Amino acid sequence: MSQRHDLLDFENTPRLEETEFSQLADAVISRRKLLGAGMAISVGSVFALSPVGKALAASSKSMAAHFEPIAASTADTIVLPKGYNWDVLVSWGDPLFTNAPEFDPSGTCPAADQEQQFGDNNDGMSLFPLSDDRAVMAINNEYTNYEYLFDHQGNKLTMDDVLKAQYAHGVSVFEIRKGAANRWSLVKDSKYNRRIHVQTEMELTGPAAGHDLLKTAADTSGKKVFGTMNNCSNGQTPWGTYLTCEENFNGYFGSANEGQESTEQKLYGIKAKGAGYNWHKHDDRFDFAKNPNEPHRFGWVVEIDPMDPNSKPMKRTALGRFKHENAALHVNKDGHVVVYLGDDERGEHLYKFVSKGKYNPSNQSANRSLLEEGTLYVAQFTMTDGKGQGKWIELTHGKNGLTSANGFADQAEVLIFARKAAKQVGATTMDRPEWVAVHPSGSQAYCTLTNNKNRGKEGQPVGGPNPREKNHYGQILRWTPANGDHTNHIFEWDLFAVAGNPDVHSDAYAGSANINKGNMFNSPDGIGFDKDGRLWIQTDGNYKNEGDFAGMGNNQMLCADPDSGEIKRFLVGPVACEITGLTFSPDHRTMFIGIQHPGEDLQASNFPQGGNAKPRSSVVMITREDGGVIGA
Ligand code: FEO
Ligand code: CA
Ligand code: CA
Ligand code: CA
Repeated sequence: MSQRHDLLDFENTPRLEETEFSQLADAVISRRKLLGAGMAISVGSVFALSPVGKALAASSKSMAAHFEPIAASTADTIVLPKGYNWDVLVSWGDPLFTNAPEFDPSGTCPAADQEQQFGDNNDGMSLFPLSDDRAVMAINNEYTNYEYLFDHQGNKLTMDDVLKAQYAHGVSVFEIRKGAANRWSLVKDSKYNRRIHVQTEMELTGPAAGHDLLKTAADTSGKKVFGTMNNCSNGQTPWGTYLTCEENFNGYFGSANEGQESTEQKLYGIKAKGAGYNWHKHDDRFDFAKNPNEPHRFGWVVEIDPMDPNSKPMKRTALGRFKHENAALHVNKDGHVVVYLGDDERGEHLYKFVSKGKYNPSNQSANRSLLEEGTLYVAQFTMTDGKGQGKWIELTHGKNGLTSANGFADQAEVLIFARKAAKQVGATTMDRPEWVAVHPSGSQAYCTLTNNKNRGKEGQPVGGPNPREKNHYGQILRWTPANGDHTNHIFEWDLFAVAGNPDVHSDAYAGSANINKGNMFNSPDGIGFDKDGRLWIQTDGNYKNEGDFAGMGNNQMLCADPDSGEIKRFLVGPVACEITGLTFSPDHRTMFIGIQHPGEDLQASNFPQGGNAKPRSSVVMITREDGGVIGA
């Protein structure tokens, strides 16, 4: 029933035909041949010889990681380079309070237990330091696996079960403290500890708040909403708040009757059968035929103050409504706050928000309203003579065809139906934009395009940053804003890496020159830079380790040098997991990563406890035996 599978749908991915490559794909191949022939240049990009690649290479410092890369693995454990260790910080169901019960593997515990425990399927996370050895962690709990949540696997769902599932979602906030050997532990009953879930009261704010499309029978203000869900990845602001991103919210809505969906609901994937959660069968709020505006109240970026457990989470409508992956926030050199946002669905788009106001480091409370007002843009990519160029197109009512005549009554409609607006202005359809990360120097931004089996079908032409038909490996895009100014409408782009399998293919599906038999992977998803500028890449892909994916093993994490393009495998996860979520302790001697859904769909995993234990999503700490900085 997992939505992940609906999205990825590897089972149905047809084998690739080795013909019909685009001109661009040919360029990828010849690039490989050129480099494979022993040219004495160090490049990471299929376009590295273009002016774009040269400009990018010159703008970043070499930060090669110093560890011995590891081989692929299919073992039900975490594998790391020599000199590195791992340990679990927290697993699904661990109590955040002393009066909450310990995890009960029977699948029969009541909803009330889950409400006081760490949620399921942890994803994006941020750390908010209190001192050198104390910090508050805010972390997403994206979804839940009914096959493990319930002894009946969801087949005899009650209203209490629905509540339990809702409490397994959302965000967990808790304090952690540093102990020996750079290991941290959860502090039960800290005043910061809090569960935010599908029943938590929140406020819709910004330009769309209070609009008729956001009003329901239960909320005639159009501003008061309960809950956040499918919290995928995240963002962190310099004013001390956490951003959680609502991704596949559509799957929680359903209806008894087919054919009730509006055109706009279809555009967001709302379907009568939902994704199998079946909340609508017990709670009318999730029956979109009865409450057609309730789905409009999800699909936003939510700002949370992790330091105040009584604060109300704010849904920031200025950042648009779509299937938000993460929110990569960058304070531009002129003080405007820029937030890059991916919409993770085949053929959807890449967005950018620019705040109206400017960041003021000496007045943090004034910064709290920066995400309330600004301009949303969507990306359009072009390529001329092998050179990647692009522009950001403004999504403002009255401009670029976003008019009443074209079905947009006002700015609120542009934001609520951002996908429709993006299509109206001619945005480029992308291969599922996942995380965006901005290099610490501010020079470039990177985005994982995880895969897209539909590339090449109608409306999704092959080319530009999406160079391969039936793309089941994915690629990493990067762009450089004109004049180093992220508010500029113009940018240059190239592909940092095109994933592939050089063991199985010798064409464009072998990948770019920086992909080899020792580091191959598929479906890049989570990415983030450490303070020194190393790029960490996490995968959420096909782990069958056969056919097109032979030799790739379980999902993994790699480390790349943005300058040279070198990519080295750093970590392999347990059976049937995804690696997602990344943050560091303030001294960068502990790396926190997420192991999500080990053993999904009842595959044989007992991670992390081993033996016959039920597999549990967990936050894992990576440390070095010599206590050094991770990757250095
Ligand atoms: Fe929740 Fe697109 O990953
Ligand atoms: Ca993801
Ligand atoms: Ca993914
Ligand atoms: Ca996942």
